[in-house]
Amino acid sequence: MDDRIYIFDTTLRDGEQVPGCKLNTAQKVTIALALEELGVDVIEAGFPVSSPGDFKSVMEISKVLTRPTICGLSRAVDNDIKVAGEALKFAKKGRIHTGIGTSDQHVKHKLRITREDVIERGVKAVKLARNYVDDVEFYAEDAGRTDNDFLAKVVEEVIKAGATVVNIPDTTGYCLPEEYGAKIAYLINNVPNIDKAIISTHCHNDLGLATANSIAGVRSGARQIECTINGIGERAGNTSLEEVVMIIKKRADIPHKTQVVTERLYAISNLVAETMGMPVQPNKAIVGSNAFAHSSGIHQDGVIKNRLNYEIIDPAEVGVDHSDILLTARSGRAALRFRLSQLGYEMEGEDLNEIYRSFLTLADEILEVRDPELHELYAKWKEGETVNNG
Ligand code: KIV
Ligand code: ZN
Repeated sequence: MDDRIYIFDTTLRDGEQVPGCKLNTAQKVTIALALEELGVDVIEAGFPVSSPGDFKSVMEISKVLTRPTICGLSRAVDNDIKVAGEALKFAKKGRIHTGIGTSDQHVKHKLRITREDVIERGVKAVKLARNYVDDVEFYAEDAGRTDNDFLAKVVEEVIKAGATVVNIPDTTGYCLPEEYGAKIAYLINNVPNIDKAIISTHCHNDLGLATANSIAGVRSGARQIECTINGIGERAGNTSLEEVVMIIKKRADIPHKTQVVTERLYAISNLVAETMGMPVQPNKAIVGSNAFAHSSGIHQDGVIKNRLNYEIIDPAEVGVDHSDILLTARSGRAALRFRLSQLGYEMEGEDLNEIYRSFLTLADEILEVRDPELHELYAKWKEGETVNNG
């Protein structure tokens, strides 16, 4: 099987569903251009029928971008599909993403129709979408809680109707990784025409498992991951693009590749955080401000001896130009000596012990000791030395 994993970015659609994070068209085009540079394969640019603004954004992004596929969301509703087709008419490569709920919860309590109706509506939507574009993705909303037999039937029928990609969303973020992986494996083994479509993961993070579930899906045969920059999205968010991309890059036991230029991850994370007014938590994997910061004495000593002792990612691989040795009251002599030597002060033995004692007193007071304080500490120590030695 082809070892390529397609990265489907939905920052501008599912990501933008975060309350208070609505973007205008110019902001969306800026982010879309950055996503194109990042090397994602598909950009879900919006939900065209939802508002004139979304329609315009999908159309403008379709005009400006050349390399990735541009995707527009729709429900399995004729007018949604027609409007999505219209919004995508300038796309070099356009995709309509249409679908319907498949879990009993959605079928009985949201749609209030039968399972047969669900299949009929799904098939009709895919066929209609194929009149506008050759590339149609079908989503089985709440597939995470859908019984696998019925899901397999739906998937078989929408592929027959012309779906090129089938999305298996864990809409409520309920699945465990082994369960989600088994669901994808079940489809691969039980849908007779599964080789005619790509299976896609789309995981939400309600239980903090979106990344693990997406990777479990890939290990079972999914070949597209839907995700957002910084993992933003409604409620607890979506699968984080930077996490899945770096897992695939770093783990030798995952024999797949993406086309993402990982050196651009940090910059796009900042762009999205600033444009959406959604700061990244400091301990966020890959792009958080503490992701490459070491503050305990034991870790600092290890990193100074050899970075690989505590770093599995070279910060440069994700576009961070340094890793930080933070000087706090938890730091040891090795870290202090290292930072002083970077500032041009070589200290050893009893001299180092002496300045370390003053450093600890200061660190207890001000929490983090930075370069200006280090210069002052050194100057004071030097002054004391000169007085003592006459
Ligand atoms: O989470 C979900 O089910 C979705 C679909 C609309 C693809 O976002
Ligand atoms: Zn979603």
